[in-house]
Amino acid sequence: MKTYLVTGGAGFIGANFVKYMLKKYDDIKIIILDKLTYAGNLGTIKEELKDKRVEFVKGDIGNRELVENIFMQHNIDYVVNFAAESHVDRSIENPKIFLETNILGTQNLLDISKQHWIIGKDENGYPTYKEGKKFLQVSTDEVYGFLNREYPDGKLLIDNGQLTVDNGLKIEELKKVLEDREVMPKIFGEKFFTEETALNPRSPYATSKTAADMLTRAYSETYHMPINVTRCSNNYGPYHFPEKLIPLIIKNILEGKKLPVYGDGKQVRDWLYVEDHCKGIDMVINGGKLGEAYNIGGFNEEQNINIVKLTIDTIRKLIIDNGQLAIKEEYKNIVKCNLNDISYDLITYVQDRLGHDARYAIDPSKTVRELGFYPETPFNIGIEKTIKWYLNNQDWVNEVVSGDYQKYYEKMYSNKN
Ligand SMILES: NC(=O)c1ccc[n+]([C@@H]2O[C@H](COP(=O)([O-])OP(=O)(O)OC[C@H]3O[C@@H](n4cnc5c(N)ncnc54)[C@H](O)[C@@H]3O)[C@@H](O)[C@H]2O)c1
Repeated sequence: MKTYLVTGGAGFIGANFVKYMLKKYDDIKIIILDKLTYAGNLGTIKEELKDKRVEFVKGDIGNRELVENIFMQHNIDYVVNFAAESHVDRSIENPKIFLETNILGTQNLLDISKQHWIIGKDENGYPTYKEGKKFLQVSTDEVYGFLNREYPDGKLLIDNGQLTVDNGLKIEELKKVLEDREVMPKIFGEKFFTEETALNPRSPYATSKTAADMLTRAYSETYHMPINVTRCSNNYGPYHFPEKLIPLIIKNILEGKKLPVYGDGKQVRDWLYVEDHCKGIDMVINGGKLGEAYNIGGFNEEQNINIVKLTIDTIRKLIIDNGQLAIKEEYKNIVKCNLNDISYDLITYVQDRLGHDARYAIDPSKTVRELGFYPETPFNIGIEKTIKWYLNNQDWVNEVVSGDYQKYYEKMYSNKN
């Protein structure tokens, strides 16, 4: 049986990862360590907390004594570090907490893992480690900086069997990545981030994540510690805190509120359905070459403004009863505005974010080639699944926003013991 220490497991991706792993493997134990900041919610994992295979610890990844205790009590095989301050806008307001959690917190986890996994030294003086241990740092494509947007309206990635760009991508590999796509993805520029791209972070958030990414790889170089780093694109899907673009837009549309779009809305991001990300992380834990970084994501580029429009269109499609030309009975109590108000008129352009990067786009070919990963969920399918989930889980949204789930901790914790 393998024991995972999943930090940040009450947050968006961490919680989805816990769910994915419990479904996939019977014989595992998961210790979740989470500080339950505004972004962490025990309600997101309330079913999982009842599972005998799961233990929850409330606390800070930077707390040495607490993390030591976890390692003393459990034979931790894998550390999967999701815990982070993750919102770029908040990092622009207050960078310090980003450095404390994202850099020093990661360093604390690395240090304690190293200390507990070491068994001796090799002939060159490098530490040697117990078999089967690994530290996986969940990093981000934001470490790479930004890419140019040469094609403002996008171009098909493969057109008439030919690659639209000539930048070293291999068409056979691409076809493998895209094999299930009904709609050929568009690209908005010539270049993609590969694992070889020089790191060039541009916001305080990205800088703190880059430091953690490099520090993790430094532990591999300096101490030969068994690590991997994964760098993923923008995730979306169920349980996403409603301050991030897609859940925020859904919430505002249902309330008939304005939809704030930064600048001209033409910034391009590569979107990854959260379950595909979880699958990729599991593959890297099981098959990733020690010491290496892996890109997870790929070929789901979209402009922010199109995402907003697509979300409006999809919500209308899902909530309208066509026979009646009215809101379907089951959604009447969650739509707080008139049907006619749900239109592009809700879009309102606001001053651009400081240092807003033009385009991110990930090339995951290495992860496809070495581990068989490919992002299964095309954006048009994933966004509809996500919107349906939000329409059917408004209680979760309301409770998260009202902070009720923060209070949930005491109740759940006392239930467990
Ligand atoms: N969401 C994305 O699109 C995206 C993209 C690329 C990379 N990432 C990375 O993936 C990871 C998870 O992202 P997310 O979107 O789920 O974030 P999130 O903000 O939803 O969740 C973060 C979780 O970490 C916890 N946490 C924060 N500080 C902590 C601390 N000091 N100690 C213990 N727990 C703490 C929070 O309570 C929360 O549960 C992060 O490392 C983030 O940088 C996210």
